[in-house]
Amino acid sequence: MIYKTAVTRREHFNAAHRLHNKNWSSDKNIEVFGKCNNPNFHGHNYELEVKVIGVVNKETGYVIDTKILSDLIKTEVLDKFDHKNLNLDVVEFEQLNPTAENIAMVIYFLLKKHLDDNLDLKIKLYETPRNFVEFPY
Ligand code: NI
Repeated sequence: MIYKTAVTRREHFNAAHRLHNKNWSSDKNIEVFGKCNNPNFHGHNYELEVKVIGVVNKETGYVIDTKILSDLIKTEVLDKFDHKNLNLDVVEFEQLNPTAENIAMVIYFLLKKHLDDNLDLKIKLYETPRNFVEFPY
C-alpha cells in the first residue's frame, strides 16, 4: 500500500466575465445565460483551492513545498486573472466561454505543466459561496 497525502493551498481572485456563445443569437444567449450574458460584464469573488496529491518525500517530509506552490499559483493564475476581465484580458478565454467549469480547467493546465509527473492535481473553484466546480473529476 502506497499512502498519498493531499496538500491544499487556498487563494482568492476577483475577476469580471461575460458568458456568451458568439454562434448563437442574442435571444438564445439571454435565454441560456440570463444575467450572465450582460454585455457590460459582471464580477465574481472567486475562491480557488489547489490540491496537490502525492507521496511524502522522506528527506523533506513534504509532498510539495507550499511556498513553491504559492509562488506558482501567483505567477500562473493570480497575476493573470486577478482584477482582470477574463473575456478581454486573458488569452485563454479569447475563444473559450469563461464559465467556472472552463476557468477551473484552464487553471489546471496552467499549473499541471509545472508540477512533477508523480503529483496529482485537483482544482476546486468557487464562483459564489454556494456554487463550486471541481476539475478533473
Ligand atoms: Ni458570472
